[in-house]
Amino acid sequence: MAVDNVLTWLESNQDAGINRLCDWLRIPSISTDPKYAPEVRRAAQWCADHLKASGVDAQVRDAVTKDGKPGHPIVFAHVPGDLNYRGPHLLFYGHYDVQPVDPVNLWESDPFQPVVRDARQGEQGGRRVVARGAVDDKGQVMMFLEAMRAWKEVTGKPAGGVKMTIMIEGEEESGSVSLEPFVNATASELRKCDVCLISDTGMLGRGKPAITYGVRGLAYTEVVLHAANQDLHSGLWGGRCPNPITELARVLAQLHDKKRKVTIPGFYDDVVPLSNKERENWKRLKFNAAAALKQIGLQPVADIGETGYTALEREWGRPTAEINGIVGGYTGPGAKTVIPSHASAKVSFRLVADQNPTKVTKAFFKWCKERTPPGCKWEFIDHHGGHGVTTPIDSPAMRAAQRAIKRATGKQAALIKSGGSIPVAGMLKARLGIDTIFMGFGLDDDRVHSPNEKFEIDCYRMGARAHAVLIDELRSL
Ligand code: BES
Ligand code: MN
Ligand code: MN
Repeated sequence: MAVDNVLTWLESNQDAGINRLCDWLRIPSISTDPKYAPEVRRAAQWCADHLKASGVDAQVRDAVTKDGKPGHPIVFAHVPGDLNYRGPHLLFYGHYDVQPVDPVNLWESDPFQPVVRDARQGEQGGRRVVARGAVDDKGQVMMFLEAMRAWKEVTGKPAGGVKMTIMIEGEEESGSVSLEPFVNATASELRKCDVCLISDTGMLGRGKPAITYGVRGLAYTEVVLHAANQDLHSGLWGGRCPNPITELARVLAQLHDKKRKVTIPGFYDDVVPLSNKERENWKRLKFNAAAALKQIGLQPVADIGETGYTALEREWGRPTAEINGIVGGYTGPGAKTVIPSHASAKVSFRLVADQNPTKVTKAFFKWCKERTPPGCKWEFIDHHGGHGVTTPIDSPAMRAAQRAIKRATGKQAALIKSGGSIPVAGMLKARLGIDTIFMGFGLDDDRVHSPNEKFEIDCYRMGARAHAVLIDELRSL
């Protein structure tokens, strides 16, 4: 059977595939920092070239934001598929941009000089690639790209005859701001797709493959509290006028009540409560919250969050409010007695069905306004937002993905959700009615977004195989 030859091809070309991944990882495609824009474009071109080598006519399309500012390019391609192909028209989505690397001094090697090495003593797992983007998301997109290459090599046909559209963006890590206009402008092409596949999530654990059937939404904001029109001597002015750092802290401290529920009026209004069925299913996954905490250096007592829910329930099924950054005043070396003119915080909300990011952001700003400290003024910034999604678990494509994982890894895929966010999924659902299957192979300890990000070769291998077999499953529908 063709699929056996495809899997053999992947096996014998695995090292070459990892080397190709390393080439891609060497391109510092940090999307949030404008100075890397040329590198971001180079990473897009690299990806398009790789697809071309698999017989796919890939284009690097320019994208613009709502206000007409240039965005990062999107790698886009249609694979027509065999005339007699009967399966779903697949939309593959991934992102080739990466998060910034700081704090750079905590990296064991240059973030953009990938190192392939075995686990050291005390490290779990096996051989791995260490680099920024290793697992999020270049390494995971690479599993798909290599599966595509294998099918082309073995059958001579792009994607082995499966009809698909490919969209790999360069702005996911900065909120996919020009993706929405792109999706709107491309709606007539995208509408033809039946289901979206994303490889940008994790597994239940090492050697425990999973399909993620939902991710949370996100509303990302920044608030600046302004007081005096100048920085002040804290001896002369302290106790006589507002200190914006203190006042901001006082306001933000009210975000959660004693039960760690978010206090913003209406915040929970649209939240779909967890069903007993879902809670039972998750309980059966036997997730060990204490062991997970231990991995990040915390004791079991640190298992805190909204009262009445387990750790998994809080991550997968409940909304949260988080302060992601807070600055003000003097932060340099030594001491300086000053009351600054302003202080600011980045505040974000993870959302679940059916919460609306715009509504949540508005409610938060209104809540801040109602607490404006005497003499102070707010400045509000709405960075970006996206809806959460939940994917039906009984569609033909979902079953095909489950069979693919079983055949490729010998293991039944666990059905999990994730607390992370992938903005495109909400867009595709809201705009085009397209559901997303998240088939990712990351691990909890991959250090996504932090120094020494890694992707284990075993995970990469499972993922490449699963993508190859999924193509076979779709051909056979
Ligand atoms: N791949 C992640 C999201 C993710 C990671 C989902 C692990 C499930 C498991 C994605 O690249 C990401 O980091 N998303 C951002 C959102 C974005 C708008 C900045 C996030 O979740 O913070
Ligand atoms: Mn990602
Ligand atoms: Mn990410």
